[in-house]
Amino acid sequence: MFATFILLWLCVSFIIVQMKPRRPKNFPPGPLTLPVLGNLINLSLENPLKDFEMLRKSYGNVYSLFIGPKPAVVINGVNAIKEALMTKANDFSGRPQDLFINDVTERKGVVMVDYGPSWRDHRRFALMTLRNFGLGKNSMEERIHGEIKHIINTLEKNIGKILSPQVMFHNAASNIICQVLFGTRYEYDDEFIREIVRCVRENSKLANGPWAMLYDSFPMIHNLPLPFTKAFRNVEKLVIKLVNEHKKTRVAGEPRDFVDCYLDELDKRGSDGSSFSEEQLIIYSLDLHFAGTDTTSNTLLTGFLYLMTNPHIQERCQQEIDRVLVGKDRVGFDDRHNMPYMQAVTHEVQRIANTVPLSVFHCTTKDTELMGYSIPKGTIVIPNLTSVLNEEGQWKFPHEFNPENFLNDQGEFVKPEAFMPFSAGPRMCLGEGLARMELFLIMVTLLRKFKFIWPEDAGEPDYTPVYGITQTPKPYHMKVLCIIHLNTVIK
Ligand code: HEM
Ligand SMILES: *[C@@H]1O[C@H](CO)[C@@H](O)[C@H](O)[C@H]1NC(C)=O
Ligand SMILES: *[C@@H]1O[C@H](CO)[C@@H](O)[C@H](O)[C@H]1NC(C)=O
Repeated sequence: MFATFILLWLCVSFIIVQMKPRRPKNFPPGPLTLPVLGNLINLSLENPLKDFEMLRKSYGNVYSLFIGPKPAVVINGVNAIKEALMTKANDFSGRPQDLFINDVTERKGVVMVDYGPSWRDHRRFALMTLRNFGLGKNSMEERIHGEIKHIINTLEKNIGKILSPQVMFHNAASNIICQVLFGTRYEYDDEFIREIVRCVRENSKLANGPWAMLYDSFPMIHNLPLPFTKAFRNVEKLVIKLVNEHKKTRVAGEPRDFVDCYLDELDKRGSDGSSFSEEQLIIYSLDLHFAGTDTTSNTLLTGFLYLMTNPHIQERCQQEIDRVLVGKDRVGFDDRHNMPYMQAVTHEVQRIANTVPLSVFHCTTKDTELMGYSIPKGTIVIPNLTSVLNEEGQWKFPHEFNPENFLNDQGEFVKPEAFMPFSAGPRMCLGEGLARMELFLIMVTLLRKFKFIWPEDAGEPDYTPVYGITQTPKPYHMKVLCIIHLNTVIK
């Protein structure tokens, strides 16, 4: 009896030791790993930032970690990130396929889809459609200006008062995507928006938290019924309803929005074995909504936080806006070419906001090399965008909010190569064009009409962001005043 027990114990220990992840030959260095857990022990699950800092200090710009049994490589600095995402784009543009989020999205859409034909076709289609080929010239600007009117209404109701801008910006970003995707906008208490907000909140809490880490580390729990997929399925149902309504009211060849464009494309392709399908469209719409809402609204929140606490920068923006837009009733995206300071400010806001600090995880598509290390196929690759956005030697003022980072000695706008808030290479953010248009039009329009003031009783501003897949500033309040223009006719 005792002998059997000993034998069993020996077997189990042997198996556990065998399960201890080992670094392949010439793999980037990293901390000692434990059986089963990998390096989970080394990371605080709530906020691993401090731990990452230590790892980078001990092991250098390219280091490795084990997420449970899975090897991952963290890449820091412009040189390493450019080598991986641009020079060796084909080797580094995959996505991990066995994570929590893959199961939630059923491997459809674009964000989490692996490097291959379905991803490529869908990505190309969205880029074409968003670049106005599908939606008509200026259509994107119209949709954004339409939504800005609602922001202005909210602000006008709050003149002289203190306002919390979180919901307002979140709703605006969400509605702009909804306008592009479905041709409609939603009031904040609408069922659709409420369900989406709930779903995003639940899923991102889970995706950041210990649950997803465990899920990603231990495939055996994948079949347990998990509460979070439920929130996603509810939203999916609402999108299915929207697509069905579109099918009833659409006129083929005259698309009103992204969904109509996709349905036209489906007609064109027929059943030629292409990757386009209605199920794809459902997940794709959700993908674009998720990817485009928190990112944009968190960047706007950061922008107004820094503009309020740097009134001299806000004033300089306003002077440029008034000078360039004199006689125009509204700003167009093309006006940016005459507004180097405003361009510098929107870019500096994105640099400081550092909205997606670790990008979206990549994955190697074949055995490859990086900075002299060997990295096998299937390794998770984590591009540390923070490390580039504040890299010393790349910026005039890497650690402070200063639009001079984007201005040359002549006051002209310049974009350093380390500006990578949208990442780089073939996987680079697909919504970059839309996001930049939103940030520019919203900031210019609001700064032209209003003055934003840090409330006297709000104390010292705290710039430390709240950690997450997308970072956001701590909740804050703003005081809004109306700007009286000398050149407006007083009625
Ligand atoms: C300020 C706003 C935004 C920021 C900072 C941002 C940032 C990013 C980053 C860092 C990635 C990962 C790229 C990579 O894997 O290397 C990404 C991917 C993506 N973003 Fe954005 N994004 C923003 C807005 C948007 C908007 C408005 C949309 C929607 C139209 C969008 C759609 C996407 C999609 C679909 C992907 C996945 C691309 C792919 O896997 O091929 N993003 N974004
Ligand atoms: C990681 O955790 C292991 C086990 O607790 C420990 O031996 C090692 O020193 C830690 N390494 C770092 C860099 O924290
Ligand atoms: C990313 O880079 C920043 C800035 O250099 C550093 O503080 C952070 O710890 C890095 N994160 C990771 C995961 O290495």
